[in-house]
Amino acid sequence: MYTSRMTTWITVLVAYALSLATSAFAGTQGSTLFPKPGSPSKLYTLKQDISGPGFYAFFKFEAIEDPTHGRVQYVDEPTAIRENLTFATPDTFILRADHKTVLTPTSPGRKSVRIISRDEFKTHIAIFDVRHMPEGCATWPAIWELYPTNWPSGGEIDIIEGVNNQAANQATIHTTSGCSMPPSSNPASNRTQLGSDTQNKCDWEVNYNAGCGVSFPKSGPPTFGPAFNKAGGGWFVLERTPTVMKIWFWSRNDPTVPAEVKSKYSAVVNPSTYGIPYAYFPNTQCEFNKYFKENNLVINLTLCGDWAGGDDVWKQTGCPAPSCNAFVETNPAAFADAFFDFANIRIYEQPFDLGIYPKRHVEGRRKALSHNLGVKEIH
Ligand SMILES: *[C@@H]1O[C@H](CO)[C@@H](O)[C@H](O)[C@H]1NC(C)=O
Ligand SMILES: *[C@@H]1O[C@H](CO)[C@@H](O)[C@H](O)[C@H]1NC(C)=O
Ligand SMILES: *[C@@H]1O[C@H](CO)[C@@H](O)[C@H](O)[C@H]1NC(C)=O
Repeated sequence: MYTSRMTTWITVLVAYALSLATSAFAGTQGSTLFPKPGSPSKLYTLKQDISGPGFYAFFKFEAIEDPTHGRVQYVDEPTAIRENLTFATPDTFILRADHKTVLTPTSPGRKSVRIISRDEFKTHIAIFDVRHMPEGCATWPAIWELYPTNWPSGGEIDIIEGVNNQAANQATIHTTSGCSMPPSSNPASNRTQLGSDTQNKCDWEVNYNAGCGVSFPKSGPPTFGPAFNKAGGGWFVLERTPTVMKIWFWSRNDPTVPAEVKSKYSAVVNPSTYGIPYAYFPNTQCEFNKYFKENNLVINLTLCGDWAGGDDVWKQTGCPAPSCNAFVETNPAAFADAFFDFANIRIYEQPFDLGIYPKRHVEGRRKALSHNLGVKEIH
């Protein structure tokens, strides 16, 4: 263990030094080595590399009632494995809804999976290398982060979300009252992003918890649903700092994807080189330290429910059957493509954190994790 850690540190330090040299050479970054007090360093180092069986160590299964009233029954880990609703090889993790069982209107929902990370994160980068996401009528897949106690007191950040094969991804933040986003249509807000803001009050009590959403463009690289899958998926990247949240996306064959995003072996990443994000959430009208605590990562696949199954939403989709629930009950085969296929998820944090947050590492949980194979922990 000791030697492998040493090697990791040497790799990280060499990469850090190289990266400093490169940015100094490019002359664009100023001095990263001596950042201004209070300004976060831009380099992040690999904390968790989650691939294949590593998903079982990093996440726990939540066999809970769907809080969004979907026509699903979330199962525990043994059930998911037994029924092949989750499946891992060294470089693949599949998470799916059942696609075999015909249900009756009174039976429990279609079996599906919701997983939540054991670890929690504040300032971090999360890179999601997704080959396939659940598609089809009634599906409502999501990859997101939240503070699980007393929702939404510690915030919610939705990175990938959408329903019923909608054309483009939507990223959203949800908070308690008092947090909003400046309209990106106002140039003075400096909110430069590729997506368009839908509404800008993040307060969950406004507009039926619509949140501050950003719709990704409908033209250009496909970010959601069947077109995303057909393109082989792609990379979603979240950066969360005390002052800004940004979400980028690159489609599988996009030649401009940064090499460090593409390679699962990147020890260090520097998002200041990634260009204009799809979604940009600044802290100018929202004190992030107050509205966002340490968040857990969640992946869930519900069917119908408050959004996907809403009467208006369902009618607009062109999906058959009188209602979303009836569709789920009677058409198991329609869910054959309702699955996530992950190449990996990587989490990066700042080892040279300047202490804007008091760092709260959950040592007990980390120790509990470290005996599990599959998650590479780097200290
Ligand atoms: C699924 O994810 C979305 C995140 O956007 C969340 O709003 C919803 O409550 C989640 N549903 C379940 C059942 O976990
Ligand atoms: C389980 O699912 C995986 C991924 O879809 C598939 O390759 C495998 O054949 C399935 N196993 C069984 C026993 O059905
Ligand atoms: C926008 O950017 C300009 C130039 O950097 C800066 O002076 C101004 O304060 C910024 N406005 C906001 C709302 O952040």
